[in-house]
Amino acid sequence: MSKSSLTSGFYKLNPKERLAFVKKFADLSDEECALLQNTGSLPLDLADHMIENVVGAIPIPLGIGVNFLINNRDYLIPMAIEEPSVVAAASYAAKMVRDGGGFHTSSTPPIMIGQIQATGIRDPYAAKMRVIQAKEEILKKANDQDPMLVSVGGGAKDLDAKVIQTTQGLMLITELYVDCRDAMGANAVNTMAEALAPLIERLTGGHVYLRIISNLATKRLTRAWCVVPKEAVGGEEVVNGIVNAYAFAAADPYRAATHNKGILNGIIAVIVATCNDHRAIEAGAHAYAVKNGHYTTLSTWEKNEKGDLVGSIELPMAVGLIGGAVRTHPIAKIAVKILGVKTANEFAEVLASVGLAQNLGALRALAHEGIQRGHMSLHARNIAIAAGATDELADLVAERMVEERKIRMDRAKELIEQHKKTGKLKRNKPASKRESK
Ligand code: MEV
Repeated sequence: MSKSSLTSGFYKLNPKERLAFVKKFADLSDEECALLQNTGSLPLDLADHMIENVVGAIPIPLGIGVNFLINNRDYLIPMAIEEPSVVAAASYAAKMVRDGGGFHTSSTPPIMIGQIQATGIRDPYAAKMRVIQAKEEILKKANDQDPMLVSVGGGAKDLDAKVIQTTQGLMLITELYVDCRDAMGANAVNTMAEALAPLIERLTGGHVYLRIISNLATKRLTRAWCVVPKEAVGGEEVVNGIVNAYAFAAADPYRAATHNKGILNGIIAVIVATCNDHRAIEAGAHAYAVKNGHYTTLSTWEKNEKGDLVGSIELPMAVGLIGGAVRTHPIAKIAVKILGVKTANEFAEVLASVGLAQNLGALRALAHEGIQRGHMSLHARNIAIAAGATDELADLVAERMVEERKIRMDRAKELIEQHKKTGKLKRNKPASKRESK
């Protein structure tokens, strides 16, 4: 009989009881169960209060990006990521940027947009006028929901309304602009939007369905730029390579998606380390990349009159330092302390700089030597460890596989066996010689 995942009251169980159910379903061993519940620095009962149906926690490596000089201040960057080379590439790129004076940044006030969808309106265009005219009443009602935010200078500041054509006919979308200060803002904005629904229904004569924040945070933008001396980046030809790599990405969405993925490699690693909402950042970034009607890059790379490389980036950055897991997860709190940022805007600007550095690291490698060399040694080490090697043997096996350009589990196992039997690794003949025999 096939197993069933159907169960009721799973959420009411404690993590141990839930794991017993999973253990039976997935045939987990006692060791596997113990590993799942060995949650290290995130106590199981804390994890159990963060999300639903918790059975454990998953640790991922936390590395530190170094060499970052941003607005003449030094930063260490905590980065949580499973992918090799990201932290090294960001640190290397930050060093090149440092040679040109570091990153410079700016950002808009931390304004998020809340949307209220009104449907079935007889006179949508006139309803739009009524909503705009009632601005003061709407803003007051919104701000009554969050006196704390208002007391620190935030709150609903403005609004707009737009009529859109949909498969269900015309709709009126009211957009509330909320200054979220040092919060990401989803809770504040959603609470306000929900509270406004009856008022919007009264003003429009329509029916309100959705009341929710938009992740396309075009009013919460952050920017970073840098000048990298051509000598620091590897010479004129490398600068040309990077500018051409950018031109390719700017013109072709298939390349732009990968270019932007490289930027987000860095940004999301910091977002994860600080327990911010990486889905919100990715959604906002990609939607922003298509703001001119075609999907393109979030960054630009040009050459100045001296032949130096000039990079810039602009993207929405809905991040917070208060509220949510950033204040409850013990490691996230330490990550914020390492970063040393005092406001959400400063945090956003550091993130934009990390994204630009990550992008530079990737483009330089791609335009110069290709990324595989750097990528491969860490990848090879991971394979060696997965094949059973530890410590020095893992390094030896990884080195040998990179040398042979054969980074595979079967080869790692072969090398480990060899080492067990002989205490050393036999050198294979280079492929070219073997083929010529
Ligand atoms: C890999 O994770 C990221 C890159 O593909 C980014 C890029 O191609 O620009 C190297």
